[in-house]
Amino acid sequence: MFVLEETILKKPSVLYKDTFLEWLSEAHAENTYIFWDYNTVKNDFQSFVDSQLSKEIMCPIGNVPESVYWIINNNVMLGRISIRHQLTDKLREKGGNIGYQISKSYRGKGFATKALELALVEAKKIGLNEALLTTDRNNYASQRVILKNSGELISDLNKLNDHELLKYLISINHIN
Ligand SMILES: CC(C)(COP(=O)(O)OP(=O)(O)OC[C@H]1O[C@@H](n2cnc3c(N)ncnc32)[C@H](O)[C@@H]1OP(=O)(O)O)[C@@H](O)C(=O)NCCC(=O)NCCS
Repeated sequence: MFVLEETILKKPSVLYKDTFLEWLSEAHAENTYIFWDYNTVKNDFQSFVDSQLSKEIMCPIGNVPESVYWIINNNVMLGRISIRHQLTDKLREKGGNIGYQISKSYRGKGFATKALELALVEAKKIGLNEALLTTDRNNYASQRVILKNSGELISDLNKLNDHELLKYLISINHIN
């Protein structure tokens, strides 16, 4: 039984190994997250979890600190959302401060909208005053997720070229 209001964000943990692996299989079936080899992750899950946690403190050159959260409901890992603490020129064009994904079987139930709401609270704790989010022009679902979290479109649609992503800003100051 999934109650949307009971959705929580958790730092990566071995506790969610089984459902994380189901999430990864579904992601691979969509040809996403293929940089994580299923068997490597499965066989040394602790190392994988550690690598996700370390993104918050140890960044390769050119990367910024990133807090990774797993979206959990009813003890099931059903998606991920991450907060990049700073922006680079690259992230300003693609990626922004917050990125998210929900497993295909759990889409259309409000989980991304709820997860973004929760992530904004975490972003405030990190010290952000606003969050930049970018999305494909044809990613209607993601645009709705952002708009429902008070995102403001800052791209000038008349000047946007075909390759550019839409940019939205969400003010975080008002969040408790
Ligand atoms: C975008 C994504 C995170 C949305 O997750 P979700 O949990 O399904 O989103 P929600 O259930 O909170 O729905 C948000 C809105 O999108 C709409 N929506 C969901 N799936 C949709 C679809 N396939 N087509 C059109 N609208 C859709 C919902 O109806 C809802 O809008 P509404 O309130 O007006 O009804 C999910 O589709 C996903 O993981 N996609 C692949 C990764 C991705 O695109 N990430 C975002 C990168 S910017």
